Order: sequence, then structure tokens, then C-alpha cells
Amino acid sequence: MSKKFVLGSSEAGARELFPEKKIRQVQLGEIKICVVRIGDEFFAFEALCPHRLASLSEGAVTGFGEVVCPLHHYRFDVKTGAIKSGDCRDLRCYPTEITSSGLVINA
Ligand code: FES
Repeated sequence: MSKKFVLGSSEAGARELFPEKKIRQVQLGEIKICVVRIGDEFFAFEALCPHRLASLSEGAVTGFGEVVCPLHHYRFDVKTGAIKSGDCRDLRCYPTEITSSGLVINA
């Protein structure tokens, strides 16, 4: 069952919280996830790489909308979590929605 979390208290607040293409780890209740903003879009995904559990907040985002793991450089589609390069399961993603009261994440 997913829960709804709101980050930032406005759209502008959420944008400030997440500088473009900087992956940040956030704690939502009992789980940790990563959030990144690319332009006006926000993406949320599990905090640890499905390969060997490296912290994806230390990874990078490419110009092609892929998350690159810092450890073995596997790449995942930031929108769908699909593995693009490497050999492990897809990354789990969480739905996000930007609203006037902040960034809503269903995790
Ligand atoms: S731990 Fe992420 S690619 Fe190996």
C-alpha cells in the first residue's frame, strides 16, 4: 500500500529543494528514496541500486534522462526505471505530481 508524501510547501519550494539534475536522497516515513528534477519534471526512485545496493544519490543523471549508478555505472531510465545498461532488475520508481502545495510522491 502506498502513502502520499508532500515535499516543499509550494511548487517553487519544491523546485528550490531539488536543484536541477542533482539527485537527493529523502526519507519518507520509513523508507528512503531518491528524487531528481529535470526541467519541470520530478522523478522519484528507490535509494539503492538494485545491482549491489550503491547509494544512487551519489550517482548522476545523463542528458538522456538516465540515472547512472556511482559504483559500476549501470544506467536506468529515470522515467520508467528500466535498466538501460548493465544486468540487474529494473529500478523501482514512485509516481510524483507537482502541485501548488508542493511535490507529491506516492511511495
Ligand atoms: S551497485 Fe549499481 S551498478 Fe553495481
